[in-house]
Amino acid sequence: MFLTEPGDDALRSLYVVPTSPGNRTRPFVRANFIMTVDGRVTGRNGRSSSINNPADKRVFDLLRTVCDTVLVGAGTIRQEGYGRIEAGPDGTAPDLVVVSNSGDMPDTVLSSPTHDGGVPRGQAFLATHAGAPQEQHVERLICGEESVDASTLMHLLYERGYRSVLCEGGPHLVTTLLQAGLVDQLAMTTSPMLVGTAGEVLMTTAPLETDLTWVGGATIDGTVFALWDVSSSA
Ligand SMILES: NC(=O)c1ccc[n+]([C@@H]2O[C@H](COP(=O)([O-])OP(=O)(O)OC[C@H]3O[C@@H](n4cnc5c(N)ncnc54)[C@H](OP(=O)(O)O)[C@@H]3O)[C@@H](O)[C@H]2O)c1
Repeated sequence: MFLTEPGDDALRSLYVVPTSPGNRTRPFVRANFIMTVDGRVTGRNGRSSSINNPADKRVFDLLRTVCDTVLVGAGTIRQEGYGRIEAGPDGTAPDLVVVSNSGDMPDTVLSSPTHDGGVPRGQAFLATHAGAPQEQHVERLICGEESVDASTLMHLLYERGYRSVLCEGGPHLVTTLLQAGLVDQLAMTTSPMLVGTAGEVLMTTAPLETDLTWVGGATIDGTVFALWDVSSSA
């Protein structure tokens, strides 16, 4: 499937979450990233906000409506200033799980309201480990003794009833998940721009060889959206 300037229903059909096989012990995990044509995930301001655009925002928002949890590394929250996730048009909001080895929940999450102008927001959890500081008043998922173990995190999310996780980055977190075979799909947006060395690449920490299978894509206002199945998921 490749869609050109799709309407909302067609776009939604591209990103429908596949039905999970019955024997799973972890949620379906989709990672969403935007990168420039020259493969950079940040732009001039050191954030993704300098490379995204309204077409990407449309897909970004849609993906949040088809998951039950948004999973983000604490570094991305510190850079992008996230808070709890607002409810979509159907009135339900995904929960936010922030991953941090240092055990430090970013202020923007701590200070974000549970309702905003009558619009509900999802709950927020800190995924960390038993050795991390625990002074902050925040609900924790303890995913290891001395560091966050990604497989343990996924099993805990599954036990809590989450079935569809949307990982919004950043590069450090997604690399860990890909290396552990814990990503089922990659939703990659190609932003029609070049930034060269002004930007960061998606993966810097380790070699990786993972085959991808084309699921479908779309083009909206010159921005290209591609959805890939990750074949080596555990
Ligand atoms: N283009 C895009 O779509 C996109 C998406 C997301 C982010 N970004 C950009 O990426 C940049 C941030 O990159 P980043 O790699 O630093 O992001 P990141 O993975 O969100 O942040 C790294 C931090 O998150 C925590 N973390 C991540 N993975 C972890 C793991 N497996 N276990 C335990 N803690 C983990 C740690 O926090 P502690 O230090 O608290 O331990 C770590 O220092 C920002 O500039 C952001 O704008 C781009």
